[in-house]
Amino acid sequence: MNTQIAKSIAMALNNELSVNDIQYLLEKPKNLDLGDLAFPCFTLAKILRKSPTSIASDIKNKLSCDLIQEVQVVGGYVNIFYHQPTITHQVLSQIVKEKNLYGTQQESKGNVVLDFSSPNIAKPFSMGHLRSTVIGNALANITKKNGYQTIRVNHLGDWGTQFGKLIVAYRKWGDQKTIEAAPIEELLKIYVKFHEEAELDDTLNEQARTAFKALEDGDEEALALWQWFRDASLEEFKSIYQLLGINFDSFAGEAYYNDKMPAVVKELEEKGLLVQSDGAYVVEIANMPPCLITKTDGATLYATRDLAAAFYRKQQYDPEKIFYVVGNEQSLHFKQLFKVIEKMGYDWAKDLQHVPFGMILKEGKKMSTRKGKIVLLADVLKEAIATAKRNIEEKNPNLEDKENVAYQVGVGAVIFNDLKNDRLHDIEFSIEHMMNFEGETGPYIQYTYARISSLLEKANEHSYEVSFEALGEQAWPVILLLEQFPKIISNAFELADPSQIAKYALQLARQFNKYYAQNKVLVVDSQRTSRLAFCHCVAVVLKESLALLGIAAPKKM
Ligand code: ARG
Repeated sequence: MNTQIAKSIAMALNNELSVNDIQYLLEKPKNLDLGDLAFPCFTLAKILRKSPTSIASDIKNKLSCDLIQEVQVVGGYVNIFYHQPTITHQVLSQIVKEKNLYGTQQESKGNVVLDFSSPNIAKPFSMGHLRSTVIGNALANITKKNGYQTIRVNHLGDWGTQFGKLIVAYRKWGDQKTIEAAPIEELLKIYVKFHEEAELDDTLNEQARTAFKALEDGDEEALALWQWFRDASLEEFKSIYQLLGINFDSFAGEAYYNDKMPAVVKELEEKGLLVQSDGAYVVEIANMPPCLITKTDGATLYATRDLAAAFYRKQQYDPEKIFYVVGNEQSLHFKQLFKVIEKMGYDWAKDLQHVPFGMILKEGKKMSTRKGKIVLLADVLKEAIATAKRNIEEKNPNLEDKENVAYQVGVGAVIFNDLKNDRLHDIEFSIEHMMNFEGETGPYIQYTYARISSLLEKANEHSYEVSFEALGEQAWPVILLLEQFPKIISNAFELADPSQIAKYALQLARQFNKYYAQNKVLVVDSQRTSRLAFCHCVAVVLKESLALLGIAAPKKM
C-alpha cells in the first residue's frame, strides 16, 4: 500500500526523492483525525530551500492516487486519508490470498547468525536465560520473515574458571550417585558450597585456577569430569527447549573455540595490538577499559573465546549480521569485542550487534545464582501450565485435548509476558498477571484467536468476498492495523525488538474485540460473507503474530 502511495508522491515531486526515501519518511499520524498516513516535508525543505508548507501544498495539488480519499496540509505535513473501500479490498484480498505468508519478504537476503540462550553448564537454567531464549527465538523468526536465512547458535557457557571451581568442589564434596540422579541441582549445591568455603579459605580459589589450567592443558581426568558435567547439563537444557518449542542449529559453546584461539592471539600479536600489562596480555581501547586476552598463567578468557567465535562464524556463514542476544550487564564486553575486531582491520565489525535486555525482577529484586537464590525456569513453566489447566477445568471442562491446550496457554503466557515489554526494561514476574485472560497477556490474544476460530467453524463459509461498504466504519481501525502488519515486521527487525510484534498483536486483538462487541458477525444477511472474510483475516494475522513470538495458537480453549 505504502509503496503505491510513495510512488505517487515521488511523481508529484518530479522524483526529487526516491520511492525508498519517501517510504522511509512516511509516518503514522498521532491520531486518526490527522489522517492515516503523513509525509513530513522538513528534510525536503532543506534540500530544496523552500518552506515545508509550500512543498506540502505543492504535493497536495499534484498528488493523484486511487488509494487516497483526501489530502490535507498541516504545518509542513501532507496528511493523507485513505480511500477506505479500496484499501479494505486490497488488504483483505491480499491476506486471503497469502495467508500466513502475508508480510513475508520473498527475496533472499543472505545469512544472519543469532547467538542466544547460551546458558552456563552445571548451573540451572535461570529466569535470566529465559529472556535471551525467548527474545532470541522471536528475533530469529522475525529475521526469517524479513527474508534472511537464520543460523541459531547456542553459545553454551561450557568453559572458563568456574569449571576449575567445580572440579575442586567435586573432588572435595561431590558424590557421583547423587549427581547422576539430579545433575544440575547437585552441581549447583557444591558450587554454592565452594563460594561459601572460599570466603573462609583463600587457597581454594588458587586451587580452582590450577584445576582450570589443567583442564585447558588437556588433563585427562579433568576433561572427563568436564565432559560429564556438560553432557548431564545439556540433557536438562534440552528438555526445557523442548517445552518451549525452541530449536538451535548449533550448540558450539565456548569450549568449541579452544583450538581456534591461538590463531587469533597470534594475529593480534602480529598486528601489534597485544600489550603486556602485569603479566597478562590485553588490547588497549580508547575510552574503554582494555580487553583482557590472556591471563598471567596463559589461560584464556570469555572475550578470547568470543573473538575466536566471531572469526569462525564470519568464515563459516559469511553473515550479513550477527546478533548477540545477551543481558544489558554485558554491554561493555560486547563494545570491547567489536572494537578489537575493528582495530584488527575488519570492516565487518559493523555487522555485529549486541541485543541487550533488562533483568527479570521478583518483588523488585534481582535474581542471582551465586547464593542459590534462583527461580528455576522449569518450575515456573510447570506452575504456569498448572494454572492454565485449572482455568480450563473451571471455564471449559469439556474441552478436547485439555492437556495440550493447557501446555500451549501456560508456556505462551510466560513467553508473552517477557516479549510484550521493551527489551531494555526490567520486567516484573507474576504468574497471576501473565495468565489474566483480560489483561495484556498471551492468553488474551490466544483467546481472541480461539473465539474467531470457533466463529468461523460455526459459520462454515469459505467464499471470502470483501466489500468495505458491507463492513462499516467500525471495522476501519482494525483494517488499518492489518494494513500495517508488513511495516511492523520490518520495524521489529530494524529495531531488533520483538515487543513491536507483541504490542501490535495486543492492539489488533483489542480493536477486533471492540468491533465484535458491536457487530453480530453470524447473522444471515447480505453482508455476512464480508464480515466473515474480515474475521478470517484478523485470525490469520493474530496467529502469525503469535507464531513469530514463538507462541502456539490453539483453535479452542
Ligand atoms: N553464557 C553467557 C552467560 O550466561 C552468555 C553467552 C552469550 N554469548 C556470547 N557469545 N558471549 O552470561
